[in-house]
Amino acid sequence: MKKETPTVLLARSIHWPLKVAMGGNVCSTDAIVDFCDRMLKVAEFSDYPNAHNGLQVANSGKITCLGAAVDANRMSIEMATAAGIDMLLVHHGLFWGRSLPISHRRRENYKLLLDNDIAVYSVHLPLDCHPEIGNNALIMNELGILPIQHLPCEHGFTMPIGKYNHPRKVLKETLEVLFPRIIELEFGDVDIGRVLVCSGGGGGIIAAMENISFDCVITGEAPRHFFDFAYEHGLNAYICGHYATEVFGIRALAQKISDKFNIPWFWIEENCPL
Ligand SMILES: [Fe+2]
Repeated sequence: MKKETPTVLLARSIHWPLKVAMGGNVCSTDAIVDFCDRMLKVAEFSDYPNAHNGLQVANSGKITCLGAAVDANRMSIEMATAAGIDMLLVHHGLFWGRSLPISHRRRENYKLLLDNDIAVYSVHLPLDCHPEIGNNALIMNELGILPIQHLPCEHGFTMPIGKYNHPRKVLKETLEVLFPRIIELEFGDVDIGRVLVCSGGGGGIIAAMENISFDCVITGEAPRHFFDFAYEHGLNAYICGHYATEVFGIRALAQKISDKFNIPWFWIEENCPL
């Protein structure tokens, strides 16, 4: 895959509209949405209740530059606004669980998006498990692990398992380069066999499994009882941050769109430590 070369936006560092200086192509919002929907096969995923995959907020129909962020939150929306971005690509969108009124802080988020004509495209589970630009696939790729099996899970997504041919010491050293902070639960053998990767909040899903076919877990976030699960199964587990494990896929998606439509994209860094 072509290496990305994004411009990085840092919180509170933007004071002028970037797109004024960029020039370049004008693309249709519909064309980008169609490209993403097809590539990510969003129609094949049920996802979590009300986690709508696809276009979540429409703009007036033209896109000249993209912003990619893990979350559609006030920080990313403020940075997108300041940068003059027309479409915000996110992994965690605006809609989750029960319907809530557009009031309080949510009103300001929508107001910023609508006042600044910013579209929001969100893709959750289809991005986690996409075989080429998915979070799990890209983490495995960074670790030099080839997937040999995909565990089916609820909501239509799968988790890859791959064979690792080095001691856990080597794996941990690689993870320390890749992620800013790691919680390690090393209850397994010093030599690792089968590694399961599940970005984001995978620990809760994994801890609900009755039978396992792996001896090492790399995930983003885990509940307290994951500790018991790891001990009872003799696992080596590395918990690397929900945010940190989910930057890969949305960046790769932005690069794909940029290559296809010849428009610039910007990485919106939230520096979220959780
Ligand atoms: Fe997530």
